[in-house]
Amino acid sequence: MAADLEPLEHAVATATSKARRMIGHTSKRPRASRLRPRATARIGYRLWVLYEPLTLRSGAVIPNRIALAPLTNGQSLADGRLGDDELAWLARCADGGFGLIETCAAYVGLDGKAWDGELGVDRDEVLPGLTRLAARLRRGGALAIVQLFHGGVRATQRLSGEQVWSASSWQEDAPAFEVPRVATARDLARVIEQFADAAARVQAAGFDGVELHGAHGYLLSQFLSATMNPRGDGWGGDLVGRARLIREVTRAVRARVGRRFTVGVRLSLEDWGSARGLDLDDSLQVSRWLADDGVDFIHASLWRSDQMTKKRPDQHPIPLLRAQLPRDVAVIAAGGLWTAADAIALRDRGADLVALGRAAICNPDWPIAARDPAWQPRRPPLTRGELLERSVSPVFIGYLERWKNFVAT
Ligand SMILES: Cc1cc2nc3c(=O)[nH]c(=O)nc-3n(C[C@H](O)[C@H](O)[C@H](O)COP(=O)(O)O)c2cc1C
Repeated sequence: MAADLEPLEHAVATATSKARRMIGHTSKRPRASRLRPRATARIGYRLWVLYEPLTLRSGAVIPNRIALAPLTNGQSLADGRLGDDELAWLARCADGGFGLIETCAAYVGLDGKAWDGELGVDRDEVLPGLTRLAARLRRGGALAIVQLFHGGVRATQRLSGEQVWSASSWQEDAPAFEVPRVATARDLARVIEQFADAAARVQAAGFDGVELHGAHGYLLSQFLSATMNPRGDGWGGDLVGRARLIREVTRAVRARVGRRFTVGVRLSLEDWGSARGLDLDDSLQVSRWLADDGVDFIHASLWRSDQMTKKRPDQHPIPLLRAQLPRDVAVIAAGGLWTAADAIALRDRGADLVALGRAAICNPDWPIAARDPAWQPRRPPLTRGELLERSVSPVFIGYLERWKNFVAT
């Protein structure tokens, strides 16, 4: 695979460079004035809202409003170092015009590793791979960030050799559930340090920023949860206590990387799947605190962005989140976006950026293709051959088989 990589990347880059110039996605960071409504009006009545640059608090400029959502893909080496397939897939999306590329969730400490083939950012040995990845992703002008992750109770002893830990100990009637031990003060001090160290490593590798994975019921989300975190020692119980870990991690990361490095947080605003014990108003308050703590963006993981909140069915979460945050803190929103019209609707609700997951897997050139108002994205199921054509490796295809009707049988 490694031997094929460069020619393949070169071919993709050559084929797409003209299209990238057309949408303002160039190897140079764009000036804020580069894309104006006038420049895009002739090809689509509201498309320009997806193709204008965005300047973050950190000073970083994202060339358009379309992000690749973090997507676990199992393509890293067994020891967490970057695999060539992972690089090829992310490079394909960078060449496809995504203005912001987020990597998959990457573990900050081995005791937080949750999957085979998960990317590691836990030690300096991973630096050469990360450096190669950062350089490749930034070649086309995308902002590149790594999602920092600790699985908590959803990590596994099979990979770490250690019992999993979390805010409290509980038993779930779920297959392969590993009962966690209760986190000690030493665990918490260590994990805060691990997030900060990982962020510094990502910065040293040449990335533009990090996103802290505070969503989907992983460690930071477990601590935010009213049901999973009844601790009475200042790290749980009331909202101040439950938010303490994510806030201390955020502050430690910010202190380590400085103001000019992008730091964001991904949150589940309400319960969904394994994210449990969350309340909309608590999540909005946490977002506000995180803005005080210095984040550049809050990334709302919605899964179904066409739906209203569960708590207040007449209100959509994005305007609520937007209203909580200072204007210079960006809102990213993800969940169920397929067409440009879907993305524009979410921008209209107040999202500064939209993030695509499954639509990006099926359409790695989505930002270029969606420039044509007549274009319609490809939707699943895709055959294995079609996925291979999109730089999705057999290992990633294996992972995608867990998603109903994604891979054609
Ligand atoms: C294959 C796959 C892997 C994912 N891995 C991650 C991940 O590593 N981190 C994360 O925060 N979300 C992850 N997600 C959630 C996506 O980032 C996204 O929020 C979700 O798929 C909804 O967006 P979509 O409808 O555009 O796919 C994953 C989703 C899929 C389909």
